[in-house]
Amino acid sequence: MRLRSLILLVALGCSACASVPQRSVYDDLGGQAGIEQLVEDLLVRVSDDPRIAPLFVGVDIVNLHARLSEHLCVEAGGPCVYGGKNMADAHAHVDINPAHFNALVENLVDTMDARGVPRRSQNRLLARLAPMQRDVVR
Ligand code: HEM
Repeated sequence: MRLRSLILLVALGCSACASVPQRSVYDDLGGQAGIEQLVEDLLVRVSDDPRIAPLFVGVDIVNLHARLSEHLCVEAGGPCVYGGKNMADAHAHVDINPAHFNALVENLVDTMDARGVPRRSQNRLLARLAPMQRDVVR
């Protein structure tokens, strides 16, 4: 009898797990529309940050907004297709040092905080972006 109860409990537990969908990073960022707004807010912050704003002078911001939105969407597990350059080619002509990289991450975190993105999803996204530092920084 005890064993049957245990099996029932396990079965119920598993079905309960399956029926409670896990929120993805993509969901927590607000889906595609949320990511596009996030990137817009991020680019505004970047343009106000004297540590890195000079690196973006002369850049096609409409293209950057579109590509960065696609890129973050893919990294967040969303149903997007990234149509831009790889990270090494995209940044080959930009003189980015580790302090610049950290400043951009700081702006991204501030933007996500301001938009109420849960810390767990922020950390999961940052963990996906961190290894790209080697392709972005000189
Ligand atoms: C993991 C971190 C980063 C990611 C995921 C990322 C992503 C991107 C993407 C998707 C593009 C557009 C590529 C294309 O047009 O095909 C881009 C361009 C650019 N990124 Fe980044 N980036 C990162 C870090 C940085 C940092 C730290 C800086 C400077 C502080 C920076 C400055 C730029 C600039 C200036 C461009 C425009 C280049 C141009 O169009 O001439 N990026 N980045």
